[in-house]
Amino acid sequence: MFPQLRMRRLRSGKIRDMVRETSLSVNDLIYPMFVDETLDTAREVPSMQGVYRLPLDRVVDEAKDVADLGIPGVILFGIPAQKDEVGSSASGDDDIVQRATRAIKEELGKDMMVITDVCMCEFTSHGHCGIVDHTSEEVLNDATLPHLGKIATSHARAGADMVAPSGMMDGMIGTIRSALDREKFENVPIMSYAAKYSSAFYGPFRDAADSGYSFGDRSTYQMDPANSDEAIREVELDIMEGADIIMVKPALPYLDILYRIKHEFGMPTAAYNVSGEYSMIKAAAQQGWLDEDKVMYESLMSIKRAGADMILTYFAKDLARMLK
Ligand code: PBG
Repeated sequence: MFPQLRMRRLRSGKIRDMVRETSLSVNDLIYPMFVDETLDTAREVPSMQGVYRLPLDRVVDEAKDVADLGIPGVILFGIPAQKDEVGSSASGDDDIVQRATRAIKEELGKDMMVITDVCMCEFTSHGHCGIVDHTSEEVLNDATLPHLGKIATSHARAGADMVAPSGMMDGMIGTIRSALDREKFENVPIMSYAAKYSSAFYGPFRDAADSGYSFGDRSTYQMDPANSDEAIREVELDIMEGADIIMVKPALPYLDILYRIKHEFGMPTAAYNVSGEYSMIKAAAQQGWLDEDKVMYESLMSIKRAGADMILTYFAKDLARMLK
């Protein structure tokens, strides 16, 4: 007891570093990139300072910069020139994500892990993550699944190192696993957006990826932010269906979920530090209200401390520069 016991003894000098329980490394990071088929020059996303939509020929340069910083992986999102009811431009071998994947892999090979987001919302005219019945305004689960299988296999054919289904359709992991295996992509892992919440923190992303929706919202497929036990069931199902890595999204408002999932399953676990989490810090820093570097570091550290093995974050380049 005090005064014999003093917690402050270990809080200064070298010993402070030695008793640190969590560390952040550039190896923990995955950088999201947006490739836009309609652009000739890079265009900054207005609500996401420092994040750009890139034309195909800039994507490789950007991936090289990311690799030079020591960041091991990127996750690709595509904005197609054409959208239609069924998101046809998501699954062609010469569509934008597939071309970007091939271009990066040709140039960087094993020096860059390319993960592709497998979803339909950037490719459908209505902006939903699946096939829509317009009479009932319902996003049809089972009718969507074969499309996800096609998208994932097209990504694998283009050379994707890992696919990341984000649409929150029931059965999507099992469908994609079977589709990949059928085409001999049994070694391509699946990172499942397993516990993805229906969150307002995705606001700026919908600017970035042009994936806003024309009616309703995503609450019939994404999770209710009030639920925690349900996240356990979602993750359990995805593991049974064959997910290799499970993801919690968003990150900061859901650290309790991340903690529970990591401890309950002991699976490789990812957290998506989403667009709104990024933009809040950028905006406050721009006003001079927060120290951007410190707040970024503390936020990402807390995500690791809660149980993440890896973090998808728009701060990846900033953090990598800081760690150098
Ligand atoms: C698409 C998808 C979204 C994000 C990643 N994949 C948006 C959504 O579900 O509306 C959000 C990422 C972010 O906000 O940074 N299914």
